[in-house]
Amino acid sequence: MRIAVFASGNGSNVEAIIQASLEGRLDAEIACLFCDNPHAYVIERAIEHNIPFFVCAPQQCETREKWEGFILSFLETHQVDWIVLAGFMRIIGQPLLNRFPNRILNIHPSLLPAFPGKNSIKEAFDAKATHTGVTVHYVDNGIDTGPVIAQEEVAIQDGWDLETLEEAIHQIEHRLYPEIIQQVTKKECAYS
Ligand code: GRF
Repeated sequence: MRIAVFASGNGSNVEAIIQASLEGRLDAEIACLFCDNPHAYVIERAIEHNIPFFVCAPQQCETREKWEGFILSFLETHQVDWIVLAGFMRIIGQPLLNRFPNRILNIHPSLLPAFPGKNSIKEAFDAKATHTGVTVHYVDNGIDTGPVIAQEEVAIQDGWDLETLEEAIHQIEHRLYPEIIQQVTKKECAYS
């Protein structure tokens, strides 16, 4: 099983996925990274782990179709079976969805459908929600709208500030995402 990770920023989830693969908790190879942001720290992580990467912002391409075409060629070169989004801040278009049907996963820091889009942790905190959490879901062409695979709840404790909540969410993400990737990719393997 060969996985491409897509990320736009820090890449702590990418790191957790790489570690799970290195430690044998995830029975898949992290074949490559696609990144849309040339300044993202996740690129350093790919270099450190010798993972091939391709960086390209849609603005660098004449059309969105061309951008997705470049991404598809990169994925073909690396013989990718699955795409795992980990902090990737772009909508996935139809060419990628058609090429990887039900094989693109995303992690989102809220209990979807609550707080979709950006800044979900802060929005839950500012709304004084008593609970929030983490969702892993299949990707469709909407913003955080695909079918939910797994959710884990966080009860927001009195006295927590935004950073405490962010830490609690990220801790869950780093454990949950590799676990779910393992389950989903294995299940698919058993059926095919
Ligand atoms: C995570 O909270 C993830 O759920 C969301 O974006 C954030 C990415 O963080 N989609 P990192 O880049 O993995 O550190």
